[in-house]
Amino acid sequence: MNPLVSYQVEAGIALLSLSRPPVNALGQPLRAALLAALQQAGSDAAVHAIILQGAAGLFSAGADINEFGSEASFAPPSLPDVLQCVTQLKKPIIAAISGTALGGGLELALACGYRIASRDARLGLPEINLGLLPGAGGTQRLPRLIDVEAALDLMISGQPIGTARALQLGLVDRVVAEPATLLEACRSFAAGLLAEHSPAQPAPRFARPGADLSTDFFPAYLASHEARWKDRLAPRLVLAAVEAACLLPLDDGLKREETLFKQAEASAQSTALRHVFFAEREAARIPGIEASIPLRPVNTVAVIGAGTMGGGIAMNFVNAGIPVILLEQKAEALERGLANIRKNYEISVQRGKLDATQLEQRMQLLRGTLEYADIADADLVIEAVFEKMEIKQQVFCTLDEVCKPGAILASNTSSLDVDQIAGVTRRPQDVVGTHFFSPANVMRLLEVVRGSATAPDVLATVLKLARRIGKVAVVSRICFGFIGNRMLEPYNREAHRLVLEGATPARVDGVLTGLGLNMGVLSMTDLAGVDVNFLVRDANRAAFAHDPSYYKLGDALYALGRFGQKTARGFYLYEGRQRQDDPEVIAIAEKLAGELHVPRRAIGEQEIHDRCLFMLINEGIQLLDEGIALRAGDIDLVWINGYGFPAWLGGPMHYAEQLGLKPVLEGIRHYRDTLGDYGRMWFQPAPLLERLVAAGKTRIEKL
Ligand code: CAA
Repeated sequence: MNPLVSYQVEAGIALLSLSRPPVNALGQPLRAALLAALQQAGSDAAVHAIILQGAAGLFSAGADINEFGSEASFAPPSLPDVLQCVTQLKKPIIAAISGTALGGGLELALACGYRIASRDARLGLPEINLGLLPGAGGTQRLPRLIDVEAALDLMISGQPIGTARALQLGLVDRVVAEPATLLEACRSFAAGLLAEHSPAQPAPRFARPGADLSTDFFPAYLASHEARWKDRLAPRLVLAAVEAACLLPLDDGLKREETLFKQAEASAQSTALRHVFFAEREAARIPGIEASIPLRPVNTVAVIGAGTMGGGIAMNFVNAGIPVILLEQKAEALERGLANIRKNYEISVQRGKLDATQLEQRMQLLRGTLEYADIADADLVIEAVFEKMEIKQQVFCTLDEVCKPGAILASNTSSLDVDQIAGVTRRPQDVVGTHFFSPANVMRLLEVVRGSATAPDVLATVLKLARRIGKVAVVSRICFGFIGNRMLEPYNREAHRLVLEGATPARVDGVLTGLGLNMGVLSMTDLAGVDVNFLVRDANRAAFAHDPSYYKLGDALYALGRFGQKTARGFYLYEGRQRQDDPEVIAIAEKLAGELHVPRRAIGEQEIHDRCLFMLINEGIQLLDEGIALRAGDIDLVWINGYGFPAWLGGPMHYAEQLGLKPVLEGIRHYRDTLGDYGRMWFQPAPLLERLVAAGKTRIEKL
């Protein structure tokens, strides 16, 4: 018996169980074992029908992502070939779907003549998230089974669906309410098929997929989605494959799919997205902390401060079903905070993302208080008060007095020294930083700041909890701005300086959005607030005193009350959300440049790209060298999930590797040597970058 696919025959039905933990990824060994088992069942005279299941309650998470980009990916038997064999079997085969059937896993189920799922199963085609398209017949078989637009939605969104929806779409034939009875249901279904002499493969529901679509459906679909897709390749390839399903016979469509899949697999975008997939899983692993470490139970959370940030943080936990106590100093502030949260949920109801009952259920998980005594039993307390050390320390002194022993005390700080905050308590081991990004209920990133005394189980508990509330958590050691904001500083500084030297804000931002960033850094500053930016800078001014031009433009805009979007003026002039370059800003830049003897000139897009991006990359590499970040992948996750860096470029560190570390280093040296004092001041290559290039490395790693 092959350990990867067990084979049992009972009452004329062969039960094939995939058994390749943790997720039955369909790598070459499993494919070979499955093919052998299918051939055995096909030729076994005692077998009249076949049930295919995943052992341990999980059908399959699809192709083995580790194989992509290597020869193993299509090593025989390839997944399309195995699935072709499934469709050619003369005996009915039923996919018994439990847990997840994703990507190639769902395609395997689609190749089976029949599909029965247990109620809690999730089904989907998430390949697009890896820069791929379903490459094992999914793009051709799904539109023959369900409505073509629904099929396209499933592939383009990459989002899995539940079994109620799957049944409604005709993706599964039956749903079994009790997971434990799935096999029993499949057996009796198989007996029914045999009794009725049902075909091994029922006729496709849509023999000519898309027959009802208008002739311009595909061009119109592209036109209406293109702006959102930006430069992403995979959605375009999915669309082309589904169009092929509508135009070509199945066999030709399958060949077309294979060509498109190989194009996607070989793309730099897919390499980048696969890097992101593994980086997300790696980020949860902290050297020296075992996965088996006992965690602290977190059943209730308290949030201190009911402002925008505190409210957003509270919503995360409530959304995950964890009760939250929200603490404020004054009754009006508390009421306002609670009302804002309700308003946010009401917007979700209006958008159809939540129903009225769920809104009430969530609000019931939320309790307000003005008394610290009420949070004494909370398992986790997150302080989200004003970003000032003395205020935060005061709160932590109080928390130290009132909170139960073992409670985790977290500070939502974006820049302050967590050790100094922990230092005012008698339990620094229980203190950790949790830097949420605004809006806290929406943004996926959570920087978890590890203080020098933070206990391993506190860190592990917070990382686990972050996953429970749907965040991507990245551990940072302490420095000003942690990983994200510290890297933002030189990137933003360069954008300011480029405007001083002659570029317009729209031109600087245009280069960045052209690369795929959600926003240019100057419009991001306008959104966050020129004043907020100024105050953060002001607290740290001594560190930059050597540069007379340092953020001078930002300072001038602040002095004029041009705070950004909220005042309809900042780097840009706003009418509603529309922004345009403002001649007044250009005039200020000219005047400042004159005073500071900064020569103004025409600045090309390449220079804007290189100066902003190389400074961002350089700082990231420096953070890795200092041990603030554990890995290059962690830095990429911060920038993708917190700052709108395009995932299909893999984050700034991966992007640097794609550009080549040597050209990046040479670019930094070029500006060091050509921008005068300014260049010498800021364009100093990170020593780790120099070491990596000297050692001929192509990947960013500690050295
Ligand atoms: N291939 C290889 N490894 C995989 C994998 C896959 N398809 N899916 C998950 N894993 C690994 C993870 O890397 C992780 O490994 P480590 O423990 O070593 O880090 C382990 O399985 C567990 O995964 P998670 O930590 O993500 O566990 P989870 O319970 O939170 O989530 C899951 C499980 C929902 C299946 C999630 O892992 C997931 O979404 N996986 C990817 C599914 C996917 O994208 N499938 C499509 C593959 S591409 C394809 O199939 C192309 C095709 O058309 C042929």
